[in-house]
Amino acid sequence: MPRTRILKVHPERLDSAALQTAAELIRAGKLVAFPTETVYGLGANALDAEAVRAIFRAKGRPASDPLIVHIADFGQLSQVASEIPPLANELARHFWPGPLTFVLQKSRLVPSEVTAGGEKVAVRWPSHPIAQELIRLSGVPIAAPSANLFGHTSPTTAQHVYADLHGRIDLILDGGPAWIGLESTVLDLTTSPPLILRPGGIPLETLRPFVPQVTLSLRYHPESEAAESPGQMLRHYAPRALLLLFEGEGESLISAMQNIATEYLRQGRRVGLLTVDEEQEALSLPGCEVLSLGPRHDLPTIGRNLFAALRQLEEKGVEIILARTFPRHELGLTIWDRLYRAAQGRIVRV
Ligand code: TXA
Ligand code: MG
Repeated sequence: MPRTRILKVHPERLDSAALQTAAELIRAGKLVAFPTETVYGLGANALDAEAVRAIFRAKGRPASDPLIVHIADFGQLSQVASEIPPLANELARHFWPGPLTFVLQKSRLVPSEVTAGGEKVAVRWPSHPIAQELIRLSGVPIAAPSANLFGHTSPTTAQHVYADLHGRIDLILDGGPAWIGLESTVLDLTTSPPLILRPGGIPLETLRPFVPQVTLSLRYHPESEAAESPGQMLRHYAPRALLLLFEGEGESLISAMQNIATEYLRQGRRVGLLTVDEEQEALSLPGCEVLSLGPRHDLPTIGRNLFAALRQLEEKGVEIILARTFPRHELGLTIWDRLYRAAQGRIVRV
């Protein structure tokens, strides 16, 4: 078991020894967690099958769920993908570096461990300077899933990574909180029409002008069917507490959440409420943890705070979380998707 070190790196001071150390570890086949603009990733040399297998072991992730390969310039794409369709070029011009992942045909250099045995590879060029510099210094593309234990809430800080993975990985680069707080959008460009396999940091509405036919392909499979549908499991991003998702508006939403919270409190359960600034006061109940994700219409702020808030409630020992949901457009769809998976589909419609 490695002792997990945490080294701080300032996103604007990249000449640090910490980054050199991290790059050496990657080249030596070790595991390094690092910040990206979306969430923290757990990185290894994407061209080293043994190092990639270590990622799956550290996370407890089934080998059937493929990894995203991270690159640090457009030229590196042809190293990992065998075909680059014109649409990938165009989308890359607009959205790379950034929170958009392409699924393309893989090159022979990419070991089958990365792609879970498949012929397609997911690739992303992150915009976070620490991620970019780590890839550049390592000199290899870096395979990286989110740096959490399999099925748990994605990490948006180095402390979240440490809580899940200490003793299992070699190093965590601490570059402060992730900016977006939600994972990248995964877009399959090998199909016609192109399919969004996972909503993420780039909303559907933003892609549509460039990909008019783009289609959402969201499936929520129960755990038993997981092997056939990598990454589309219903139970994902889940806190250790039970989560109930409330869909509704205004007074009736607030009183429904209060009633159920009161009922659980009466049963002696520890309850947490996840809400928005505008409803926080009305929702407050003695004995209940109430957290706001931000102003109701400020979806970027709500997205940035979501995973951290779930972990915060978990740390307070909350057993049941009641969360309000959000309209399914723009970044709201991504927020809805993460809440729905964390709730394992348990929705209360008010
Ligand atoms: O923002 C992100 O994407 C973060 C940061 C670290 O880059 N990474 C991330 O990785 O969220 P992970 O492993 O937690 O999620 C990757 C998603 C999964 O849903 C996986 O099934 C899908 O991408 N994926 C990866 N390779 C794929 C492939 N070849 N075909 C289809 N889906 C793929
Ligand atoms: Mg993940």
